[in-house]
Amino acid sequence: MAISMSAFVGLFVGLVLVGLVSSAKFDELFQPSWALDHFGYEGELLKLKLDNYSGAGFQSKSKYMFGKVTVQIKLVEGDSAGTVTAFYMSSDGPNHNEFDFEFLGNTTGEPYTVQTNVYVNGVGNREQRLNLWFDPAKDFHSYTIFWNQRQVVFMVDETPIRVHTNMENKGLPFPKDQAMGVYSSIWNADDWATQGGLVKTDWSHAPFFATYRNFEIDACECPVSLAAVDNAKKCSSSAEKRYWWDEPTLSELNLHQSHQLMWVRANHMVYDYCADTARFPVAPVECVHHRH
Ligand SMILES: *[C@@H]1O[C@H](CO)[C@@H](O)[C@H](O)[C@H]1NC(C)=O
Ligand SMILES: *[C@@H]1O[C@H](CO)[C@@H](O)[C@H](O)[C@H]1NC(C)=O
Repeated sequence: MAISMSAFVGLFVGLVLVGLVSSAKFDELFQPSWALDHFGYEGELLKLKLDNYSGAGFQSKSKYMFGKVTVQIKLVEGDSAGTVTAFYMSSDGPNHNEFDFEFLGNTTGEPYTVQTNVYVNGVGNREQRLNLWFDPAKDFHSYTIFWNQRQVVFMVDETPIRVHTNMENKGLPFPKDQAMGVYSSIWNADDWATQGGLVKTDWSHAPFFATYRNFEIDACECPVSLAAVDNAKKCSSSAEKRYWWDEPTLSELNLHQSHQLMWVRANHMVYDYCADTARFPVAPVECVHHRH
């Protein structure tokens, strides 16, 4: 009796703590930005719903410069054709910077496509697409944006799938002076998302859910009260303070990560703007880097 009673109490306390810690995490870092009635909270999980009325989206309460942002997502199961779930960082304004993960749904059994893009000073057009090496609708997987003064790295379960390298030495602008928010949303994009827009969303399979857990932001926070230059100064390492993401070892991928990236590109990449000669007869300058 005593044992089962304490086991019961232990279980109860454990559940309460887990629930508190995790849901505090979302509330601590994020807030819904639209369609509050399309948010569902189940213990440590957050669910965003897409139906024929609306999708839903959330955003970080703060803006950041540099560091690492990770969420775990389980994408829409079954027939997800026409749906897009996005996870991205973005600054504001016409000359904004943006680092995008977009998960394009597909018909049952066909592979999800992950599209990434990088906007610098308001200009994007840097799409890459890959089909993942697992079914992202079956389990949670982690999606990470790592950002420092040298590179922006997109990672899936810690495997780098894309690097946008600082090439200021070649005269190219690099996103390093605008604070960025963290965003995620689900919406209907059946005009373009699945097989180029040929496959439409089948609303008889709605509602569609993207499920989230384990929100982590380890980055330099930028108070809105500070001017952009002051935030840039605050978030740069100096003699007095050194941010972990500015360690020399993180200025480029290590050898193991380089091999992982090569493996991803060789086996899973289905589109690379750098290789799209119809679109870019002269390859964009930063693409030279992708070719070795
Ligand atoms: C949305 O779907 C429901 C259920 O299928 C249907 O009753 C409703 O009319 C639809 N609403 C719109 C705006 O299409
Ligand atoms: C969906 O599946 C088709 C057929 O396998 C594939 O060509 C396509 O790249 C997949 N992804 C999207 C977003 O259409």
